[in-house]
Amino acid sequence: MKAIICNEYGALSNLHLQEVDNPEPNENELLLKILAAGINFPDALLVQGLYQVKPDTPFTPGMEFCGEVIGTGSAVKDFDIGDRVISFNLSYGAFAEQITLPAMAAIKIPRTIEPPQAASLIVAHGTAHHALKQRAMLQAGEALVVLGAAGGTGLAAVQIGKAMGAKVIAAASTDEKLELAQNHGADATINYSQESLKDAIRQHTNGKGADVIYDPVGGDAFDASVRSIARYGRMLVIGFASGTIPKLPVNLALVKEISLVGVFWGTFTQKEPALFKVNMQELLEWYQQGVISVAVDRTFSLSETSAALEYVMGRQVKGKVAVVV
Ligand SMILES: NC(=O)c1ccc[n+]([C@@H]2O[C@H](COP(=O)([O-])OP(=O)(O)OC[C@H]3O[C@@H](n4cnc5c(N)ncnc54)[C@H](OP(=O)(O)O)[C@@H]3O)[C@@H](O)[C@H]2O)c1
Repeated sequence: MKAIICNEYGALSNLHLQEVDNPEPNENELLLKILAAGINFPDALLVQGLYQVKPDTPFTPGMEFCGEVIGTGSAVKDFDIGDRVISFNLSYGAFAEQITLPAMAAIKIPRTIEPPQAASLIVAHGTAHHALKQRAMLQAGEALVVLGAAGGTGLAAVQIGKAMGAKVIAAASTDEKLELAQNHGADATINYSQESLKDAIRQHTNGKGADVIYDPVGGDAFDASVRSIARYGRMLVIGFASGTIPKLPVNLALVKEISLVGVFWGTFTQKEPALFKVNMQELLEWYQQGVISVAVDRTFSLSETSAALEYVMGRQVKGKVAVVV
């Protein structure tokens, strides 16, 4: 089979499509033909050696995927050839024609969900859902500010915040991105490349400030928004797409009685697998009811994987990008 191989950490252009051995499932595993794989910001960080996880080289990157079962281990009971499933592998393997995975890690999905959308439902929506539900404990009627609101996790947070009954204030760098966020349920928008984020959050919350801020961006956006957080507000630390890890003067936490809340979805899936499955079932139900959706901005072929990663890192993406295999 063919797979994208990272032979050494470095530039995204170092990735190459190569012929490798077909994977063989053990008795508890499924063999999948990959139909599509979602692209995530951490995939690019991983290949550049900038992520928390550093697999030995050579390896195949790619975390989330949709595939069709083409083989089952002798002990596998609940899956048949032809079943369509989604799953993820925290660090690698999905940018390939085939993959093996433990049957217990696969989630069956109906064929009505297109593979690029199905593959892209896991990491971004899973992160936003866990962040807003288990970490922020967002309540109906609260004001939620989403930074980077047209990015992968940002747009998912806009949809999920709306589904949970919050007033969603989307913040992003262009009017085009904000229009997308509005089409996905945002009640108000802030263009933070043109207006003061701090002042605009106050205006949209009648001076009270945001109850929850969802921050996958970091840098200046964190610094400005945390100054417009409400008393008892929760600042969700999701990521640092801007490249700058901000610092919080803790006197702000004291004076405003706010909480800085870390979110690490990957650890959550490992430490609390049962709750992770409950979350995924809720996301799939919401998807099928039309409460949430996956906006796939562009698809790329497997051989174009590095271009897909560069597209995400270039701040261009609106929603998600997927590789169709
Ligand atoms: N904590 C977790 O469990 C978890 C899970 C998944 C992802 N993450 C992290 O969350 C962050 C966002 O991931 P994502 O998938 O949402 O990424 P994404 O789709 O690329 O969105 C990131 C957004 O950040 C903004 N941004 C600001 N400066 C940027 C820059 N210099 N380059 C790129 N984007 C920039 C962009 O919005 P504007 O142009 O509107 O500013 C962009 O839409 C990443 O750091 C990722 O590692 C964390």
